[in-house]
Amino acid sequence: MINFSKEQLYIVTGASSGIGEATAILLNELGASVVAVARNIERLNKMKSKCKYPENMHIEVKDLTQDIENLPNYVKSLKDKYSKFSGMAYCAGITDVTPLKVLDYKTMDDVFKIDYYAPIFMMKGLTDKRNIVQDNASIVLVASSSGVGAKRGMTAYCGAKAALINSAKCISKEFIPLIRVNTVSPTDIDTPMTQEETIKSFINERLDKYPFGIGEPMDVANMIVYLLSKEAKYISGQNYVIDAGNIL
Ligand SMILES: NC(=O)c1ccc[n+]([C@@H]2O[C@H](COP(=O)([O-])OP(=O)(O)OC[C@H]3O[C@@H](n4cnc5c(N)ncnc54)[C@H](OP(=O)(O)O)[C@@H]3O)[C@@H](O)[C@H]2O)c1
Repeated sequence: MINFSKEQLYIVTGASSGIGEATAILLNELGASVVAVARNIERLNKMKSKCKYPENMHIEVKDLTQDIENLPNYVKSLKDKYSKFSGMAYCAGITDVTPLKVLDYKTMDDVFKIDYYAPIFMMKGLTDKRNIVQDNASIVLVASSSGVGAKRGMTAYCGAKAALINSAKCISKEFIPLIRVNTVSPTDIDTPMTQEETIKSFINERLDKYPFGIGEPMDVANMIVYLLSKEAKYISGQNYVIDAGNIL
């Protein structure tokens, strides 16, 4: 059975909503301590109010796209404030549907900042031996099935997620056997992200392709938490597609 001790401390980004919120709450319920990072304090506090052990849920308000190059120092500051980390679930992200005809540099840059550059520089901080424990440390990043398959009109998002999946594999090779690094790649999950009108109509067009319907945040959180746990101690450098068998 998967469980954690409160000495095991994980950063969960995107903890104010959707998959990150579900992951933070589940980790907390299973006994781990969490540093929950996002921009919206009200939503972070709401998430904390749902926790089984609120005393082990620490809120940190941060825009991860501000001063990305300095994120390793941000991780160090969190380590100094709390303690060494056992790992991270990077669940922050934005999506984007912009046909190439109207795709501009800013849109591309906005997507890459939070979906690619920020997770890489957070990992740069986390993989510093001074910030991470030496026993079963694990990092899980939420990529997307869009990073494995291609979707019409999603050049920026598919590109950023594909880049993240492969870079995570590179990083896993650098840090074996000290730190495990894996990505999970869900398809459409029912979160505030997929409530946005363009995305919603995009999903509605292919609803018949999902044998189990749209996924729930917990369907992804369960996999993330498994990969963080010691039960997954033999798994690194992998990308797990979570799409109810609807193979792209
Ligand atoms: N939902 C899906 O169908 C689906 C499918 C495949 C992959 N994914 C991926 O799963 C991850 C989570 O998505 P979700 O569906 O849970 O979305 P969501 O409900 O919209 O949550 C996104 C989270 O990212 C945080 N965030 C966004 N920009 C940020 C920034 N600049 N700095 C710090 N935090 C930021 C948001 O927090 P604040 O707004 O409070 O900052 C929020 O907590 C994303 O990477 C997404 O690409 C989702």
